Amino acid sequence: MFAELTGEDIHYDKIEAPVDGFEQAVNAFFADELAVGCNVTVPFKEKAFVLSEANCNPEAKTAKAVNTLHREGNALFGYTTDGMGLVADLLNATELKGKRILLIGAGGAARGVVQPLLGSEPELLMITNRTLAKAESIVTDIKHDAFCAVSIEEAKKQLPDVIINCTSASLTGDLPMVSDGLFSQCKLAYDMVYSAKATSFMNYAKEQGARSAKDGFGMLVEQAAAAFTIWTGKTPETAGVIQKLRP
Ligand code: ATR
Repeated sequence: MFAELTGEDIHYDKIEAPVDGFEQAVNAFFADELAVGCNVTVPFKEKAFVLSEANCNPEAKTAKAVNTLHREGNALFGYTTDGMGLVADLLNATELKGKRILLIGAGGAARGVVQPLLGSEPELLMITNRTLAKAESIVTDIKHDAFCAVSIEEAKKQLPDVIINCTSASLTGDLPMVSDGLFSQCKLAYDMVYSAKATSFMNYAKEQGARSAKDGFGMLVEQAAAAFTIWTGKTPETAGVIQKLRP
C-alpha cells in the first residue's frame, strides 16, 4: 500500500528462514543486487542486531534488536523502527513536546522506544515497572536529564499527560500496575498492544478520567512506514492505511 501511495515499484515478500540459518538467509537475500532491505521479526531481531551492530540507530543499540535492515553500498545498516512508529502514532493524537510522559513496563518493548520519545522533547519521561530495578537499569543505560525511574505513586504525583502501557499484560487481558488517580490529568492513554476491541488498560484509563485511549495498531503501521522511508526515502501517508487495515 505504501508503494502504491508513493508510486514506487517494489517487490515485498515473506522469507521463512530456518531457526539456525538466519545469516545465510540474509546473505542469500542480499546476493540479489536489487535487494534494498528487509524487515526482520521474531526470533531473529537479536541476530539482525549482531549483523548490523556497526551501523545501527541508538534505539537498536539499546534494545540490542533490529527489525529493519538496509543495504547502502556495501554496508548493512540496522534499525529498530518501533520507537519512531510509536512517536509518530502518539503525534497523530496529541502533543509530546513539553509534556510529562509515563512508560509502564521495562522489557524489550520499553527499551526500544525511550530514545525516540526523548527526541520528542517531553518535559519529563518517567518509567515504572512491576520490577522497579529493571526500569532503573534502563535509566542507567540511557542517561538523560529528563528521564527517570519512579514508583507508580511517585508517577501519580507528577500528573502525567501521556501514559503508555509497554507491558505484555494486555496480551493476557491483565492490567499492569496502575493506581487510582494516575489518569486524572491524562490526555492520552496508549496501549502498545492492539486487538479488535479496547484493552483492559484502555478501559481502565477511560474509567479513571483519561481523555482518550488508543491501542497500538497505528504504531504497527507507523513502524512499517518508517522502514519504508528508510528503504525508499519516501514518506507515505499513513492515516488512510491505518483506517483501511484496522481490525
Ligand atoms: P516485551 O519484549 O514485550 O517488552 P518482556 O521483555 O518479557 O516483553 O517484558 C514484559 C514487561 O511486561 C515487563 O515490564 C513485565 O514486568 P516485570 O519486569 O516485572 O516482569 C511486564 N508485565 C508482564 N505482565 C505483567 C503484569 N501482569 N502486570 C504488570 N507487568 C507485567
